[in-house]
Amino acid sequence: MENFEIGIIGGTGGIGRWFADFFRKEGCTVHVSGRKTGMDIPTLARECDVVIVSVPIGATCEIIEKVGPHMRKGTLLMDMTSLKVEPVRSMLKYSISEVIGMHPLFGPGVDTIAGRNVVICPARAEKWIGRLKRVLEGGGAHIVETTPEKHDRMMAIVQGLNHLNTITMGVVLSKAGTDLSELKDFATPVFNAKIDILKKVFGSNPGLYAEIITLNPDINNVLDMYEKTLSEIKNLVNNRDAKGLTEMIKAHS
Ligand SMILES: NC(=O)c1ccc[n+]([C@@H]2O[C@H](COP(=O)([O-])OP(=O)(O)OC[C@H]3O[C@@H](n4cnc5c(N)ncnc54)[C@H](OP(=O)(O)O)[C@@H]3O)[C@@H](O)[C@H]2O)c1
Repeated sequence: MENFEIGIIGGTGGIGRWFADFFRKEGCTVHVSGRKTGMDIPTLARECDVVIVSVPIGATCEIIEKVGPHMRKGTLLMDMTSLKVEPVRSMLKYSISEVIGMHPLFGPGVDTIAGRNVVICPARAEKWIGRLKRVLEGGGAHIVETTPEKHDRMMAIVQGLNHLNTITMGVVLSKAGTDLSELKDFATPVFNAKIDILKKVFGSNPGLYAEIITLNPDINNVLDMYEKTLSEIKNLVNNRDAKGLTEMIKAHS
């Protein structure tokens, strides 16, 4: 493997730290920085061939604005953000380097990248695209190459609708004063599987899920459809219309 020098801003935690370990195992030299630790942004940009921004979604463009102007021609600026349109636009605007947006479709809890989907959005990429793909594919990742716009449209469903649904269920359970320990004896396998998902979303990083939903540029269509559908289902239930609800399920199967 070629030995790149990589700097990960936000590499002190979460998915940034996971990728610091991954790139080190692949033979790269990796520097990580956080708000209070590691190299300052200009030094990191000067020292590294590749700089990756891996900070919370709401802070991403602000960090790109700071690091972008320090990037040199021939180096690579990337981000790890769960949304792609705004970060990629900012990276192109504030740097003269090559630019590739990336979104690993897994969290820092997984053991390996093998078999995992990783979206990449090459925006200004010549020499680095092949190198990046070789490292990721070398680890067994499944690379999906697309545009930032298509990525965010897909994420409005895969993450937006999905997490919206989970949050709604969690809030309803809480408002209903549900005692999960009491439910344990009454739980079905499907319910238990949903509770595991709820625990993840309501766990240590709720801000990530909140930003994934609220900052997605395509979420409003999904949200409108969700609200309208819930209201249609409510009418069917209020009318005890099992036949109507069955028809609705069948029509959308
Ligand atoms: N976690 C996931 O499952 C996952 C998966 C794919 C993509 N992503 C994306 O990866 C990015 C990071 O998510 P994460 O879950 O890894 O977040 P995280 O666990 O909160 O870690 C964020 C890192 O950024 C630094 N940081 C926090 N606030 C900052 C700020 N205001 N300015 C600059 N740096 C800051 C932190 O370092 P210090 O605390 O040392 O300052 C920390 O190392 C997000 O854009 C997210 O959408 C996350």
